[in-house]
Amino acid sequence: MEKKTVGIGLVGAGFMGRCHANAFRSVAGLFDLPVVPRLSMLADASDELARRGADALGFERSTADWQALVRDAEVGIVAITAPNLLHAPIALAAIAAGKTVYCEKPLSTTAASALEMTGAAEAAGVTTLVGFNFLHNPMIRLARDIIASGEIGEVTGFRGRHAENYMASPDAPHSFRTDPAGGGALADIGSHIVSMARFLIGPIAEVQADCRTIHPTRPVAPGSADRAPVEVDDMTHALLRFENGAAGSIEANWAATARHMDLSWEITGTKGALAFSQERMNELLLWSGTPGRSGYTRIEAGPAHPPYGAFCPAPGHHLGFNDLKVIEVAELLAAHAGQGSCGPDFREAYDVQRVIEAMQESDRARGWVTL
Ligand SMILES: NC(=O)c1ccc[n+]([C@@H]2O[C@H](COP(=O)([O-])OP(=O)(O)OC[C@H]3O[C@@H](n4cnc5c(N)ncnc54)[C@H](O)[C@@H]3O)[C@@H](O)[C@H]2O)c1
Repeated sequence: MEKKTVGIGLVGAGFMGRCHANAFRSVAGLFDLPVVPRLSMLADASDELARRGADALGFERSTADWQALVRDAEVGIVAITAPNLLHAPIALAAIAAGKTVYCEKPLSTTAASALEMTGAAEAAGVTTLVGFNFLHNPMIRLARDIIASGEIGEVTGFRGRHAENYMASPDAPHSFRTDPAGGGALADIGSHIVSMARFLIGPIAEVQADCRTIHPTRPVAPGSADRAPVEVDDMTHALLRFENGAAGSIEANWAATARHMDLSWEITGTKGALAFSQERMNELLLWSGTPGRSGYTRIEAGPAHPPYGAFCPAPGHHLGFNDLKVIEVAELLAAHAGQGSCGPDFREAYDVQRVIEAMQESDRARGWVTL
């Protein structure tokens, strides 16, 4: 029997647009899904960009008008991979049209607008998913299971970092990522490590942050000699207290010379400890406190850690960054078809945004902020 299909409408054919399209193209060959995606329509900022994007990524139709995409009767899921300022208007229009909404992180540029999006989605009863793809790593889910089982005892500490070097050069230009309305390292990659901290440890109760701008000016566009002031953080360090009593720290840093994907953390408990870095995303380090066996043991990703087996029957062959998006999309499609739920949803992404804003507020006030 032929499976039902759902039309995908993708807004933005850049880095993440390609990643989403790849996931939608390959997911049905890897997962047994109740509904199969059809790459229906792609929108970008101009007719030419949209047409080129649709041709390259395999979409049936293209448009320069994302509102037309959102209204299109053949589009059932709207995937938003456009700059952050566009997330709210596109998502709100898609929710009003009754579509499932798959939005990239950060959910919006302010917690207030993230809350408006969350309220609208919950009132309309539509399925939502936000692209915190790193949470879909089987090793991260294993870590959460290990913590929940009590194997490392009561969690006492979390030390997390998302450090990359893509803005390390003073000549890395302005983009939507440096827009004072919602940009900065904390919003761009700090959102990932905050979502990770919440996923593994739980809600964050209090923060104290120090946000720093390393390069005071940047070129206004790639290769331009004109420079404009930078009004966002390049690097933030924050202390945390979790609701469950654990303490910790977070660093968000897009000027981390020599680092490409150091989304890493260490969790200490009363009996053992866990450690992970996305640069070695197929490994989880565990010390379960066995006397005489001090030191971390390396757990290798394999079919014992679902859904690794959907990709490969043998351990040690490794999943990659794009595979996390395929897992994310598989869960989205199942939830869209009414089979289970998917997450993090808009409500969770709003809570992440609240933490980010609390850190920014703490930096301005030079003190602790309670959430
Ligand atoms: N989950 C992750 O790991 C991850 C990684 C990178 C980026 N992101 C997020 O994805 C989003 C996009 O980032 P990116 O790196 O792909 O950026 P990008 O600049 O590579 O792509 C953005 C695309 O949006 C298009 N666009 C701009 N204005 C538009 C409009 N009015 N209508 C339609 N399209 C328009 C641009 O032309 C471009 O094709 C951001 O929100 C970012 O935070 C997430």
